[in-house]
Amino acid sequence: MGVDLLAGLGLAPLPPLGRAPRVLVFDSGLGGLTVLAELVKAIPGADFVYAADDAGFPYGALDDQRLVARVVAVMERLVAREVPDLVVVACNTASTLALPALRARFALPFVGTVPAVKPAVAASITGLVTVLATPGTVRREHTRAMIDAFAGKAEVTLVGAPNLAAYAEAELRGAPVDDALMNAEIAPCFVERRDGARTDVVALACTHFPLLTRRFEAVAPWPVTWIDPAPAIARRAVALVGEQPADLAAPSRALFTSERPLPPPLALALSARGLAQVEREHFPLR
Ligand code: DGL
Repeated sequence: MGVDLLAGLGLAPLPPLGRAPRVLVFDSGLGGLTVLAELVKAIPGADFVYAADDAGFPYGALDDQRLVARVVAVMERLVAREVPDLVVVACNTASTLALPALRARFALPFVGTVPAVKPAVAASITGLVTVLATPGTVRREHTRAMIDAFAGKAEVTLVGAPNLAAYAEAELRGAPVDDALMNAEIAPCFVERRDGARTDVVALACTHFPLLTRRFEAVAPWPVTWIDPAPAIARRAVALVGEQPADLAAPSRALFTSERPLPPPLALALSARGLAQVEREHFPLR
């Protein structure tokens, strides 16, 4: 599947529905909240369901076969339960692998999240760009193909951070992570060539990572531009939703696949993002 189609370009817009469109925003955990925030701004009239497969988290640690099977199985339940008009897979680790299987299985438009190599290269002055992702996304052929397609003359460093998604989850649950641990994850992003040129752009290729941008800024050895893909994903979703009535949207809801209790800081963070209503669709990882 081509790079553009994987991201959701080239899909047909929804026909007029005569009601608020239901948009299912899906991630392994809380990272997709960074995408939800942009979607809510871009499509204020939609009825949003935020689904976190927290029983399957972290997706970055699952092998390819297991991950595709898990994502399709969870989506099966979510689609039957929520009957969405559009699904945004707000997860690079799942999108770069499971989108072809999802599109083959469901007659629904899926917008994916792929590493923002092209905008990162365009934003770089030094030509030293880093793509920071989960180990799963780093392994993907699709990620390499994007770098081959869009790097041009830039030197792209691909960094797989094993723990960052979990750190972002911990912070939202009210358990801050040490600077030293944070630094150990992002240090390989910063490259200094012999001629003195330094990395100046880091593409955040996991939706969890923009939750930590302030922390990254605090520990980075020099300032860089951090590219958050969420606004581009929201633009793609807007193009697909088209003209729909905006006055009937229901309040957004969050849905989790585990029975893990919600600590008060997380309940507060969800509610601040318009997700005061939290539901469960218990589905343990086998
Ligand atoms: N938020 C997911 C992504 O964008 C990854 C987190 C995980 O490893 O589950 O890649």
